[in-house]
Amino acid sequence: MTEIKIPVKEIREGLTKLIIPRDYLKKIHFFNPRVELSRDMTILVLNTLNPKDWIVCDVLAGIGARGIRIAKECRVKKVFLNDISEDNIPLMRKNISLNLLKNKVNIINRDANQILSDNIRLFDYIDIDPWGSPSYYFDSVARAIKRKGFIGFSATDTAALCGTSPITCLRRYGIESYKTDFFKELGLRILIANAALTFGKWSFSFKPLLSYASEHYFRVFAEVEKGKSIASKTLEQNLGYVNYCSKCLWRKIDEEPIIKCEFCDSKTKVIGKIWTGKIEELKFLQTCLEELIQTNWLKTENKIKNLISLLKNETIPFYYDVHRICQKNKFEIPKFEILQQKLRDKGNVAERTHFSYKGIKTDLSLKEMIETISEF
Ligand SMILES: C[S@@+](CC[C@H](N)C(=O)[O-])C[C@H]1O[C@@H](n2cnc3c(N)ncnc32)[C@H](O)[C@@H]1O
Ligand SMILES: [Zn+2]
Repeated sequence: MTEIKIPVKEIREGLTKLIIPRDYLKKIHFFNPRVELSRDMTILVLNTLNPKDWIVCDVLAGIGARGIRIAKECRVKKVFLNDISEDNIPLMRKNISLNLLKNKVNIINRDANQILSDNIRLFDYIDIDPWGSPSYYFDSVARAIKRKGFIGFSATDTAALCGTSPITCLRRYGIESYKTDFFKELGLRILIANAALTFGKWSFSFKPLLSYASEHYFRVFAEVEKGKSIASKTLEQNLGYVNYCSKCLWRKIDEEPIIKCEFCDSKTKVIGKIWTGKIEELKFLQTCLEELIQTNWLKTENKIKNLISLLKNETIPFYYDVHRICQKNKFEIPKFEILQQKLRDKGNVAERTHFSYKGIKTDLSLKEMIETISEF
């Protein structure tokens, strides 16, 4: 057995003890304590899905933190940890034995696409947690996932997804992204569109259960199911264009591209097709909140509760950035709670969004928003 040759320390995440490198952000033995929320959320989502008898693959496992936590804290049958870097294997081994999981966890040291392609329809859940884009792995995940299964993936290439480099986004995701005032939500919806289109290619439907943006990453949990007609339906019902005017901030989701702004007549940016359907399953979010009471060992419990409570109300696609509207129209920025109340008093939806503290989700048009804010 290869020995661990670097300085290490022991920590605890959830119910799991982990030996991590002292110098943990070095790319060779990677462990990021800042994404505890993402790992906690994975534990919660899996336990909510009742994963008894599941075979799980943490295909970009690093030192194994996420997969080992799944084995320890979720009611699954078996977990495979895979990482291409040999350097991670001794730490994986150590962490498995420290948590008494030798019979439940297997280690693989191969390229992710190869191991997935070699294990057709084996896994109930596959986790993809890369540096950068998960899109390089979607095709192989579609081979390795069961006919009905679940996937969880992260993306850290948020700059490209959110519009800083349209061509990079086109290369990776097949869709050009542009700078908007709802850039975080746009990035997440482009990521989901790419996943849905790739799974659609392999005749899988795609249903996002819980999706969010946090710090430097996006995270999506989704259900996929094999079947040509449900796969076609996913794409027919959930893709569309977002037409955007950077001059006045007008936006409209439509089945067709709209090239002229309906508010100020300028030329628009047409972005799409992107995912315009639901990015959360409301019933699932509610069950997660109930499960969170049972899964009471997560350190980020309060953060998760707040996040899911916001997600539950974010049913309207694309928030307005109130600060940007005020800047463009030379208005004073109103107090958020008062604006929210005013909109609600008029019978409109007015919800905060987890994407931005400056954002508001409402069913009002830009014109109506401007009129309302101008009354302050
Ligand atoms: C962000 S880290 C994973 C972190 C881990 N999931 C966690 O929660 O701590 C990404 C990992 O992917 C591995 N990796 C990169 N390319 C790979 C490939 N083609 N096949 C398998 N592993 C790969 C890297 O060695 C790295 O450990
Ligand atoms: Zn305009």
